[in-house]
Amino acid sequence: MRKIVITGGAGFAGSHIVDEVCQQFPEARIVVLDKMTYAGDVRNISHHVFSQRVQLLVGDIIDLELCRRAVKGASLVIHAAAESHVDNSFGNSLEFTRTNVLGTHSLMEACRQEKVPKVVHVSTDEVYGEVMSGAAVENDVLRPTNPYSSSKAAAEMILRGYVQSYHEPIVIIRANNLYGVRQFPEKIIPRFICHMLTGRRLPLHGNGSNRRHYLSAKNFAEAVVFIADQGVVGETYNIGTSEEYSNLQVAELVCAFFGKSLDDVSDFVADRPFNDGRYSISWGKLAQMGWTPKNRLVEDLGMLVEWYRNHLDRYGELFAPPPLLDNSLALLQGAADGYVVEAGS
Ligand SMILES: NC(=O)c1ccc[n+]([C@@H]2O[C@H](COP(=O)([O-])OP(=O)(O)OC[C@H]3O[C@@H](n4cnc5c(N)ncnc54)[C@H](O)[C@@H]3O)[C@@H](O)[C@H]2O)c1
Repeated sequence: MRKIVITGGAGFAGSHIVDEVCQQFPEARIVVLDKMTYAGDVRNISHHVFSQRVQLLVGDIIDLELCRRAVKGASLVIHAAAESHVDNSFGNSLEFTRTNVLGTHSLMEACRQEKVPKVVHVSTDEVYGEVMSGAAVENDVLRPTNPYSSSKAAAEMILRGYVQSYHEPIVIIRANNLYGVRQFPEKIIPRFICHMLTGRRLPLHGNGSNRRHYLSAKNFAEAVVFIADQGVVGETYNIGTSEEYSNLQVAELVCAFFGKSLDDVSDFVADRPFNDGRYSISWGKLAQMGWTPKNRLVEDLGMLVEWYRNHLDRYGELFAPPPLLDNSLALLQGAADGYVVEAGS
């Protein structure tokens, strides 16, 4: 029986890949290797685990022996485990290097030792750095600008060495920002939705002009499986969409859905130490192979809001009401104003 390993499969993007792989390979044995950090949630894949389609192996990709056990006999490894939130990377950059660089290295070494015939490494459009006009193509120089994107670019450099030196059968994919259900509400779209659902104000980085492209996580997962099948070893593929919005436009979209005016429910908050103005990639190479994105954020927004409305209890601690202490006017005032937390993307 074919064995497929998905690292980070209990996270947001990884769980969409698990859905797609389960659907497309009904006969395969699927193993998820995941450390279950704050971003991993067994409920993201519990339906597959309970129906015994997926085996969940809890552990750290930095552990070479564990990785070897996980990938032994696999015909495909899809590597999506990572520390993924840019805001966190400014405060704890070493953890990003540990997981994203050393962890990726350890997993690749395990794949090499166990002779895995194909590995798909999930990277990001952020490795190209800021692209204010035009669109980056796969051969462009990488110019990452923050600890998260630097760690993802560094991981790619390790993989280049594995391809050249060991002829490791690795394919790299670089995707736009993703949206979809199960995304941890530290990222801008689920955070804004959860803020609106709980009567909080929307925090906007800087002046809200930073632009991002938003690709449906379902379309992304379809592309990952497509590339796992059709992608040429040693090649890199951008996975993108034309759905481009500024942070302000995302906030307007969410506000409009809830029938609110942006001015009434949003605040501008301090920006990141550095915040790329725009990312942009061309996915012409993938389009030529027959893949194009189908979904549109504006059409999926209602479905997203419904999902977060029904699953708010998952994120109880993030969106619990502030404690009300006797005679604490300041706290009451804070509660009335809503929490101010930074918007991430
Ligand atoms: N979300 C996006 O918009 C986006 C866009 C482009 C690329 N990506 C890439 O997709 C991948 C997944 O991103 P995501 O948004 O789903 O992230 P996420 O933070 O939601 O999930 C990451 C998963 O990896 C697991 N993990 C973290 N450290 C680990 C470790 N040391 N060992 C094993 N498991 C570990 C976590 O428990 C979690 O389940 C990442 O490689 C990210 O760089 C994400």
